[in-house]
Amino acid sequence: MKKRIAIFASGSGSNAQKIMEHFKYSDDAEVALVLSNNPEAYVLQRADNFEIPSHVFDRHDFYQTDEIVSLLKRLEIDLVVLAGFLWLVPQNLLNAFPNKIINIHPSLLPKHGGKGMYGDRVHKAVLAAGDEEHGITIHFVNENFDDGEIIYQGRFRVEKGDTLEILKFNGQQLEHLHYPKVLEGLIKKYN
Ligand code: GRF
Repeated sequence: MKKRIAIFASGSGSNAQKIMEHFKYSDDAEVALVLSNNPEAYVLQRADNFEIPSHVFDRHDFYQTDEIVSLLKRLEIDLVVLAGFLWLVPQNLLNAFPNKIINIHPSLLPKHGGKGMYGDRVHKAVLAAGDEEHGITIHFVNENFDDGEIIYQGRFRVEKGDTLEILKFNGQQLEHLHYPKVLEGLIKKYN
């Protein structure tokens, strides 16, 4: 049986796109659902392009009800993947998928993580700190932002004169390359 992945994303969804591409012809897993808290998120269009169903929810649904957990269970989801999802995952969802919720963060955690550290803010903080290296982290999700056990880190050197755009680009390249592969590795272990 193929494992079934649900992707949560709040924005563009370029990582979601790479994951959908990667598993499109996989024998091990498929992306069964894309969820977003943002009805305008471009990731919803991307899901449509892959003919993958999507679901939009609001703060009330997510934090005050079991609607999302019920939906994921009904669709027999095995793995929950956060790809640019900005809300903290509530306890009912953590309990329903122990060690089965994965996130990607655009820095070498524990550096530059936590509430409010997302997007350009992360790369600005790296430049402001004068870090000599930067990278990405793929980790299990717990009740705090950017805090669970680390599964994979990819790193690159920050060169003199690097701009925010360069850091962002380098990080994205690493994310797009590694996130699908790391997920596949996890899924193979579950089989
Ligand atoms: C990525 O940088 C990821 O690390 C972070 O949010 C960003 C999402 O980008 N969690 P995209 O929507 O996948 O393009």
